[in-house]
Amino acid sequence: MKILLVFAHPGADSLNAAIRDRAVAALETAGHDVDLCDLYAEGFDPVLTAEERTAYFDTEANRARNAGYVGRLFAAEGLVFVFPTWTLGPPAILKGFFDRVMVPGVSFRLDEQGRLHPNLQHIRSLTAIVTYGRGRPILWWFGDPPRKTFTRYMPWFLARRARVRYLALYNLHKPSPARIERFMERIDREMAGL
Ligand SMILES: Cc1cc2nc3c(=O)[nH]c(=O)nc-3n(C[C@H](O)[C@H](O)[C@H](O)COP(=O)(O)O)c2cc1C
Repeated sequence: MKILLVFAHPGADSLNAAIRDRAVAALETAGHDVDLCDLYAEGFDPVLTAEERTAYFDTEANRARNAGYVGRLFAAEGLVFVFPTWTLGPPAILKGFFDRVMVPGVSFRLDEQGRLHPNLQHIRSLTAIVTYGRGRPILWWFGDPPRKTFTRYMPWFLARRARVRYLALYNLHKPSPARIERFMERIDREMAGL
């Protein structure tokens, strides 16, 4: 499968970078074709401008402005996101990727009656690999926004029967090497089964 792996972390020596490398290696071992989109390394600008907001529903302008990223999204059959939780959400650079790239004419269509239609129906697999400092019980109480974004909101844009995986590693304020290694092994298994 052609996989677009979107990575959002600034640190080359971070746990997230190690997770990214593990996921890429497991995907390639399984025979998948990986396009790594490292948002920091590519200098992605997450700030949506006044002009973009004004022309938000101009589908042709949206596709032209983001032609490179749009081409990569439409070439992909599967999406993998790797990121840490920052202030109960993805890092701003990834939020900006959603705001600026997954726009009308790209990830969804708006018809004349104002109804929304998904537009990434060629994508049949979505995986989010997400790290957290805090534990799962307090995240549950906060509503765990990253989990909801990737298990409820994002699948709406994709093929109806797209397979969705949410691989979460909580409690990294108190990291345990054994728990991290078990998580890495889970990544190997899940990527092999994509
Ligand atoms: C700016 C910032 C905000 C954070 N906000 C949260 C948060 O809301 N919830 C949480 O569980 N952890 C939070 N954390 C902890 C990170 O999720 C944790 O450090 C990260 O997942 C560990 O991965 P890394 O070592 O690759 O950075 C935050 C960390 C930073 C730097």
